[in-house]
Amino acid sequence: MAARVIKNIGELTTNDPSLGVGVTGRLLDAAIVIDDEHVLWVGPNGEAPAADEMIDARDSAVIPGFVDSHTHLVFAGERSEEFEARMSGAPYDGGGIATTVASTRSASDAELRRATNERLVSLRAGGVTTVEIKSGYALTVEGESRLLDIAGSISDEVTFLGAHVVPEEYATNREAYVDLVCGPMLKACAPKSKWADVFCDRGAFDVDESRAVLSAARVAGLQLRVHGNQLGATGGVALAVEMDAASVDHCTHLSDADLERLCASTTVATLLPGADFSTRADYSSARRLLDRGAVVALATDCNPGTSYVTSMSFVLAIAVRDMRMDFDEALWSATRGGAMALRRDDVGHLRVGARADVVILDAPRAAHLAYRAGSQLVRQVIVAKGPWSKTGWYGAHGKTGDG
Ligand code: NIG
Ligand code: FE
Repeated sequence: MAARVIKNIGELTTNDPSLGVGVTGRLLDAAIVIDDEHVLWVGPNGEAPAADEMIDARDSAVIPGFVDSHTHLVFAGERSEEFEARMSGAPYDGGGIATTVASTRSASDAELRRATNERLVSLRAGGVTTVEIKSGYALTVEGESRLLDIAGSISDEVTFLGAHVVPEEYATNREAYVDLVCGPMLKACAPKSKWADVFCDRGAFDVDESRAVLSAARVAGLQLRVHGNQLGATGGVALAVEMDAASVDHCTHLSDADLERLCASTTVATLLPGADFSTRADYSSARRLLDRGAVVALATDCNPGTSYVTSMSFVLAIAVRDMRMDFDEALWSATRGGAMALRRDDVGHLRVGARADVVILDAPRAAHLAYRAGSQLVRQVIVAKGPWSKTGWYGAHGKTGDG
C-alpha cells in the first residue's frame, strides 16, 4: 500500500498529549505519514521518512477529520418558514417534525439518496470524515427501515430513532406506538443499526416510555444514545446515565444533579450549538460541564428543524464565542470528543495506528476556523479507506486535491 507523507505542516493537532503540547497534542513544524487506511508515523518535519508520495502542506495547519456524532441526514423537504417564525419569537416544541415526516414518507428512494448525498458532500467539504446518521423521519416499520438502508450505505454509525415523536396517526394511542417501536419496528431495524436513540423530552417521549424503548433496543443488541434535556430538565440525562448510554445529546437544560451524574459516568455530553442557535435557546452550559471534568462532544445535529447546519467550523465558532469553550477544547470536542461519543478509539486523533482521516487547512493555525468564522478554510480532506468507501469516496479531495 503506497505511503504518503504530508510535509511542512505549520501546526499539527494530534489529540495525543504524549505527542505534543496540551490536550490537543500540538506539534509545530511537523510531518505525518499515512497509507490508505492508517497513520504510520508522526513527528518533526526534519525527521520525516521518505514515502511514495509527498503532499506539501505549505506551513498550514493540519487536524484530525471531524467526527460528527449526531446528524439526522436522511430527510426530504425543508422548514425555513418555521425558522423564520422562531426568529420572530415563535417557540420550538418539536411540532414541525410532523412536516418532515410527511415529506420524507412521500419522497422516492432516489430523491432521498440525492438529498442525503448533498448534505454529506457539504459535511465532507468542511472536514467531517466520520458521521453518525439517524433515522426518525418516517415512523413506520417500512419507512424507518428504508431510512436506515440509506444511512447504512454511507456510514457504519447508523442509529435507529423510531422514538423521535409519536406520529399523528397514533396521537390518541401513544402506548400502541411505543409497542410498535419496541416490537416490529425494532425487529426490522435492529439488523440495520448499531445504535438506538430516543427523544426523551417535552412533547416527545417521557422517561418511562424512553426507558422501555432503550431497554428493548439493548436486548436487540443495539448500543444506546439519548436526545435529552433540550426543551427542559425532563430526566433525559439521568436516564442516559442510568442506561449507560454512550452519549446524551443537547443538554441545554442541566441541573446540578445532572452535572454530577454525567461526571460520575462514561456517558459523553454532546452539545449541539447549531440547534441552540436555530431555536434561539440559551446555549448549553459547556463551561459548567468542562470545569467539573465531564467529557464534552460537539456535533452539527444536521436536521431540517432545529439545525440545518453542515459546517463544523460554524459549530466551533459558536462554541468558542458564545459557549466560552477555549478553541482547543472545542476542536478536541469536535474530533476526539465525537469519537468518544461513538465509543471509537480509531478516529478523532492522529496517533500511529489511527485511521488516516486528515484535514489540511488554508490557515497557519487551526484556531482560524473560529477566528475567521464563515470562511471556507478547508483545503484538502483525506479520508481513510473504510466505511466511507461505500460512497466510492476515499482519498484526497478538496480545493487543491484530486476530487
Ligand atoms: O435533534 N430534538 C429532536 N430532534 C431534532 C430536531 C427534529 C426536528 O425538529 O425536525 C434535534 O433537534
Ligand atoms: Fe438531533
